[in-house]
Amino acid sequence: MEKYLLKDALKNGYAIGAFNFSTLEVLKAIIASAEKQNSPIIAQVSESAISFIGEEYLKDMIKAARKNCKVPISFHLDHGKSFETAKKAIDIGCDSVMIDCSMLPYEDNINITKKVVDYAHSKGVYVEAELGSIAGNEDDLKVEDKNSCYTSPIQAKEFVERTNVDSLAIAIGTKHGAYKYSGEAKLRFDILEEIQNQIPDIPLVLHGASGVNEVDVARLLELGVDIQGAKGIPEDFLRKASKMHICKINGDTDVRISYMVGILSNIESNNKSIDYRGYLAAGMNEVAKLVAHKIEIYGSKDKAN
Ligand code: G3H
Ligand code: 13P
Ligand code: ZN
Repeated sequence: MEKYLLKDALKNGYAIGAFNFSTLEVLKAIIASAEKQNSPIIAQVSESAISFIGEEYLKDMIKAARKNCKVPISFHLDHGKSFETAKKAIDIGCDSVMIDCSMLPYEDNINITKKVVDYAHSKGVYVEAELGSIAGNEDDLKVEDKNSCYTSPIQAKEFVERTNVDSLAIAIGTKHGAYKYSGEAKLRFDILEEIQNQIPDIPLVLHGASGVNEVDVARLLELGVDIQGAKGIPEDFLRKASKMHICKINGDTDVRISYMVGILSNIESNNKSIDYRGYLAAGMNEVAKLVAHKIEIYGSKDKAN
């Protein structure tokens, strides 16, 4: 499934939102919003989300979601760190897996990625790998390390040729979590352009792409959450990247922020109730609004067909 989704996104100049979930409520909110926007969607689980949900439960959640979802949906393993985890995710029913050995020496990254690709392809599963270090951004690097964090376009070409991977997560200055920039926001679109020239047929993936909405940050501060100084990727950057070869954009922090704004606001205004469904529904509502907004930014609205 994901292969077709990303190929269409590449051909038509838009990106598909890939949202992390760790609960059934968040998954349902993501799906409901994608259906409303008539957009394809990717729902992804990290290794820790798999253990939080439990493998058997997750298997059945994926089955039920596939059966009921009215738009194309792909289930994806986010940041799998080993062959064993990738295999586990494939057994659970993921359509695609990420093998992230970007922190290992280059040759080790190639060898493990290739092993996962060979196995996944034999099961009809799509593979995303990572090259470069998404964890860092310029502000956090020592000068001599500066260039080591970005994906090398030449190496990207060789990496794809040697591993036969289907899509590639690249490092162009994004960062995971709520604190992406201490100064001015910056993304290396020049490197993105060089990478897409080197591997024009490979859909590229942007991790660490949460926007960290200022209004939500202010609301969380009011509600007593310690999130001072949080700053994300500007929307204009994401619109621009979506029109280039970035075909999948990951968001986890934004989902967490929206969910908690909904839940905590509801608890504050409705603090006499022990019926937790009210709080969760308020969280789901905020997640659905977030996903709809992202779908508009990424250009995938009405692309479900
Ligand atoms: O990029 C990583 C995701 O944000 C996963 O985070 O391991 O806490 O689920 P997690
Ligand atoms: P954010 O922390 O910016 O949401 O990134 C999430 C991500 O890349 C998951 O793989
Ligand atoms: Zn990531």
